[in-house]
Amino acid sequence: MLAALTPGVSPASLGGLFPEVGFPTALAPMQDVTGLPFMNLIAGFGPPDLFFTEYFRVHPSARIDPSILSSITENVSGKPVFAQLIGEDLEHVARFARELQEYCIAGIDLNLGCPAPRVYRKNVGGGLLRDPDRIDRVLNVLRDSCNCPLTVKTRIGFEDHQDFSRILKVFAQNEVELVSLHARTVKGGYRETPQYDYVKQAVAEMDCPVLLNGDVHTARSAIKLVDETGAKGVMIGRSAIRNPWIFKQIRQLQNGEKMDRPTLGDVHLYINQLCDVLSKDTMTDEKQVARLKKFLNYIGLSVDLKGEFLFQMRRTRTRSELDRVCRYFLLNDGRSDQPMHLEPLSNMAYRPSETGAAC
Ligand SMILES: Cc1cc2nc3c(=O)[nH]c(=O)nc-3n(C[C@H](O)[C@H](O)[C@H](O)COP(=O)(O)O)c2cc1C
Repeated sequence: MLAALTPGVSPASLGGLFPEVGFPTALAPMQDVTGLPFMNLIAGFGPPDLFFTEYFRVHPSARIDPSILSSITENVSGKPVFAQLIGEDLEHVARFARELQEYCIAGIDLNLGCPAPRVYRKNVGGGLLRDPDRIDRVLNVLRDSCNCPLTVKTRIGFEDHQDFSRILKVFAQNEVELVSLHARTVKGGYRETPQYDYVKQAVAEMDCPVLLNGDVHTARSAIKLVDETGAKGVMIGRSAIRNPWIFKQIRQLQNGEKMDRPTLGDVHLYINQLCDVLSKDTMTDEKQVARLKKFLNYIGLSVDLKGEFLFQMRRTRTRSELDRVCRYFLLNDGRSDQPMHLEPLSNMAYRPSETGAAC
């Protein structure tokens, strides 16, 4: 539990952060989405066991971003939060790691997966997977600077998986304590089908726990995939935005309890809560709507079979237009009592801006 962590001091072992029954779940870091408001909101739906911050960008003139820092210092969930870094400058990743340990973090996590070209071209995020020796040097300085768990979030390779075994060895040499594995290549973006056999390989070759990540859509599929791959647990991103009940549903299934089945009316309430936590008085109506759409693009995949909600929602400009669309699709004509779709519609076909550029 976060309360048990003291700044800069390692918990006895990462295992102490995992639940006694069932497997650990984590909310995947998502830039511009999983900041403090979303973390605190999802905690009320049944939090994951672990949180990861959006990445702190590391370069010589960078300073700790106070908004990302707030997701550590003001997190009300009581759950551990790992601070994620993206960068490759040895002196400054060490500086960030040292400075972040002044706060109540569960560990330092290195981003080795971001597929956005503007990021990987700088040889950071997913770009580092082209250079296992560089990963080794970055992890080495992080290891020396961390008096807390060191973890990585990685994809299986840059263009293909040929360096995967070597990269796993680099993790092991640097005593990485948790690997979150998004089972796609960097070049595969979000289009490629996740290749979970590499999760099996990581489980077999690493002594530390491995979290499976990538297209875990439902509580049932989380349990099936953990079972099939031997992963320690799951990390869930987009489906947790679509279905913030998913972590609770996983726990319910693991405990043999009846799983909550939220209705479209519940989804409407969730959207209202999102509006409340995301909107600031200083934001224009249009800006508020643009911010909400980042979330509704995912939530919309659970609303109607033809994607009409998504179509109409994307055309709204004001809060009142958006409220009208939400009420129509989620409450009118007795829809509020209909169960939401647990599987995303159209196989998670997000808009191009969410598939190519996002980390
Ligand atoms: C909008 C968006 C932002 C993301 N930002 C980050 C990030 O800051 N750090 C990171 O490691 N991964 C980031 N990711 C990748 C996710 O953490 C996760 O690996 C990916 O979405 C696959 O998991 P999912 O299928 O459960 O969504 C981002 C993904 C999305 C869609």
